[in-house]
Amino acid sequence: MTKRIWNFSAGPAVLPESVLEEAQQNLLSLGNTGIGILEHSHRGKAFLAVYEETVALCREIGNIPDNYRVLFLQGGASTQFFMLPMNLLPKDRTADYLITGAWSEKAIEEAVRFGGTHSACSSQDKNFSYIPKACSFSPNPAYVHYTSNNTIFGTQWAEMPSVPANVDVFCDASSDIFSRPIDVSKHGVIYAGAQKNLGPSGVTLVIMRDDLIERGATDLPTMLQYRTHAKNDSMYNTPPTFAIYLMGLVLKWIKQAGGLSAVGENNRRKAGKLYSFLDQSSLFKGTAAVDSRSQMNVTFVTGDADLDAKFCSAATKAGFDGLKGHRSVGGMRASIYNAFPEAGVDALVAFLKDFEAANAR
Ligand SMILES: Cc1ncc(COP(=O)(O)O)c(C=O)c1O
Repeated sequence: MTKRIWNFSAGPAVLPESVLEEAQQNLLSLGNTGIGILEHSHRGKAFLAVYEETVALCREIGNIPDNYRVLFLQGGASTQFFMLPMNLLPKDRTADYLITGAWSEKAIEEAVRFGGTHSACSSQDKNFSYIPKACSFSPNPAYVHYTSNNTIFGTQWAEMPSVPANVDVFCDASSDIFSRPIDVSKHGVIYAGAQKNLGPSGVTLVIMRDDLIERGATDLPTMLQYRTHAKNDSMYNTPPTFAIYLMGLVLKWIKQAGGLSAVGENNRRKAGKLYSFLDQSSLFKGTAAVDSRSQMNVTFVTGDADLDAKFCSAATKAGFDGLKGHRSVGGMRASIYNAFPEAGVDALVAFLKDFEAANAR
C-alpha cells in the first residue's frame, strides 16, 4: 500500500487509521452477516443496530439531554443554513446572527429569504481575524445563530457567546463538533457536516430540542420539515448508511480516547505546539488574534506571498498535504482535527523550523 502522508486538509479530513481498518474489514461482510456495510438495507436488522449504536454513542459522548433528538440529514451544513430559518424564522420575526466568517455570512444570506435578520456582531472589519467581544442583539430575536469555529479564518469561540435570557441558540459546529466538551442543554440546535471531526462527507449531524422540532413550519415539503426526520428515525428516505456507520466508528474511537475532555486536552496540546512555534518565529506569524485562535485550523503567513507559495510547494514535496490557506486569507492553514496525529504536528513544527533556517531574512 502507498505510504500515508500527513493530511492537513480542512475537510474531508484525516480519519483515525483504526477506524479505516475496521471499515475495510466490514466492506465485504459487516460482522458475520455475509453482506458488506455498503450493501445492507437501511430497513434490515444489521443496519438498524448500526444506527442505534451511532445514536447512543452520540448521546453518551455529547451528554445530550433526553429532550433532544439526534438526526442524520443530508445536504451538508449548507442545507441547515436555509432549513433552520425556513422552519423556525417566521416572516414577522428577526433572527440574530454573529458574523465571524464566510460560513456565518452564508448562513445569514439564506435566512434573509424567510424573515428579518440582524447582524449582532461582526469581525469583518479585520478580515474575520478575531471573535468579537460584545454583541448588540435585536429586541426579542427568534433565535441567535453562531459559528463555533471559523474554518477559513482560524478563529474559534473560546466559550459559547452570551445571549439574552430565554433566546434559543443555534450553532454551526461543523469544524469543531466533539473536539471539546460542549453544553448541549444551552443550545436549541447544534449541527455539523460530518467530514471534519465525525466521519466522511454525506451526513450532517443535527442535534435539536424536541419543542423546536414541533414548532417548525408545517407547510413545507415533507423532506424539509425536521419532524419528518424525527418521526422516522432519520429514515424517511434512504439515509447515508455508510456515513452513519463510519460516524459510529469515529464516535467509538472518541469514547475509547477518553471522551470529549480527553480529546479536548489533546487538541489544546496539539494546537499549542504550533502556536508556540509561531509566537517565537522570525519568519512565520499566526493570522488570528491570540485570544480567538482556533484549536482546529491554525492559519499563518510569512507576509510574503511568494515565500508562502515556496513553503507550500516544499511542504508538499516533503509529504505534508493540504497546507495552502484559503484564498480569502492566503498563506497557510494546518487543519488538525481530532484524528490528526500529534506526531504530524511535531513533524510540521520541525519542517517549519528547517524552512525558517534555510530562508532566514
Ligand atoms: C463552519 C462550516 N460551516 C459550514 C460548512 C459547509 O458545510 P457543507 O459542505 O457540509 O455544506 C463548512 C465547510 O467547510 C464549515 O467549515
